[in-house]
Amino acid sequence: MHRFLTRKGLLLSLLSVVVCGLFATACRHDDFNGRWIASGDTLANGEQLKMLLELKQNGSELSGTFKSPGFSLPVNGTAQGTHVTLFVAKHPDRPFLQADLVNGNLQGMRGRHTFNATPAGPNDDLPTVAYIAPPAIQPVPWNGLAKTPPMGWNSWNLFADKVDDATVRTMADAMVSSGMRDAGYVYINIDDTWEGVRDAQGNIQSNHKFPDMKALADYVHSKGLKLGIYSSPGPRTCAGYPGSYGHEEQDAKTLAAWGIDYLKYDWCSASTVYQEKDLQAVYQKMGAALRATGRPIVFSLCEYGLGNVGSWGPQVSGNLWRTTGDIRDAWSSMIGNIEEQVPTAQYAGPGHWNDPDMLEIGNGHMTDDEYRTHMSLWALTAAPLLAGNDLRSMSEATKSILMNHEVLAVDQDTLGKQASPVKNGTMETWVKPLADGGVAVGVVNLGGAAATATIAQTDLPLHGTVKKARNLWTHADVKFANGSYSAEIPSHATLLLKVSTR
Ligand code: GLA
Repeated sequence: MHRFLTRKGLLLSLLSVVVCGLFATACRHDDFNGRWIASGDTLANGEQLKMLLELKQNGSELSGTFKSPGFSLPVNGTAQGTHVTLFVAKHPDRPFLQADLVNGNLQGMRGRHTFNATPAGPNDDLPTVAYIAPPAIQPVPWNGLAKTPPMGWNSWNLFADKVDDATVRTMADAMVSSGMRDAGYVYINIDDTWEGVRDAQGNIQSNHKFPDMKALADYVHSKGLKLGIYSSPGPRTCAGYPGSYGHEEQDAKTLAAWGIDYLKYDWCSASTVYQEKDLQAVYQKMGAALRATGRPIVFSLCEYGLGNVGSWGPQVSGNLWRTTGDIRDAWSSMIGNIEEQVPTAQYAGPGHWNDPDMLEIGNGHMTDDEYRTHMSLWALTAAPLLAGNDLRSMSEATKSILMNHEVLAVDQDTLGKQASPVKNGTMETWVKPLADGGVAVGVVNLGGAAATATIAQTDLPLHGTVKKARNLWTHADVKFANGSYSAEIPSHATLLLKVSTR
């Protein structure tokens, strides 16, 4: 949801906390109490974003709420002289917002965005909507889709708000020419920022970046691919564009008429209208609306794992649901997301999958070993595989990771089991039972130095002695001697084997 500031800013604010702690009288805190209003980006549909920051100050301590049309978040932080640093609970190590008081206004940065706020007047507020009660719970039957985890590409990780029709067409071309389609990646998914405004009848239109969504769907379909799109159950999407609130049936019909095959439905501003207890009913509304169109549309729930989504996701005809916050192209983020996926293993199965978020493979901020670990872990946990890189310019290494057929077969195994890890020091072993009676076993070296891993046959859920073991990254058979196999694993790399007794 957010992109963040540099470590330098964080160090400076930590330093000032320490200095002020030691020499309290030398530290003066300006008054940040109150409501601040800021103009944000002009959206691609011509609308102007507004944000509100509500702050309460107690000495150098600040707490409050950051509100944008797309989301609302509790913030905490510190005031040091004229400087304010705010954090959100999930990322205590990365400032969410930093600003200085200049001539009575707040001037700074929120992630990569400039943030300029003035004191808000009593009438300065974000638009509100009339409350619509969610429907009574009534299970929506499975749509019969996603018998194995969905595979495709999504625009958000690389393009964010820069995605447009031409990009999607060239990505569809590259999906075919690179061999990705034939490897199983079929969904081309447009994430947030395609939305225009609603017409007089309330029909959602695409903005100028997507002049003809139906024609785009026809183009994508002509390549043997499927087209995905994005919306929110709230009045606004996370990026502030119109969501489907109060227009669920109408939007489902529009998407079906355009030829859409996949909907990612992102909670975002629904949190400003509904409570967590309403999640199932709210998602059910769109699940039912999609089913009522008669078009097969994969339903992807994006609500960051709130409300134990796996326990009710299938009942809203959800095919996949996010288990985590947003992934970044960084080892700590990727590993953090997969660790959050661990408690959800029981909920994975044909038709409905836990989603630790899209792939970052090929985006440039991890090593190839780390990207192989990313791919191995997503395959072992039967995660949806939505590439998030530029398919038009993939290195050979990126192609060999995304299109490793033996690893893809682990992800797509028809038994649909999600592996769980066992930790031993810096080594983590994940075992996934497979439909043919074999197992996939991955040992991840989380440590900073190479180390030797041993896989013992007795630790694997197999009946009988190992007859065949294959390294899925080197594509070579390996031998279990005296009931075990040992190999050295570089730091952050993964040893991934398929082992069977036949
Ligand atoms: C949320 C989602 C992301 C992406 C953005 C778009 O943050 O979790 O995956 O869809 O919204 O605004």
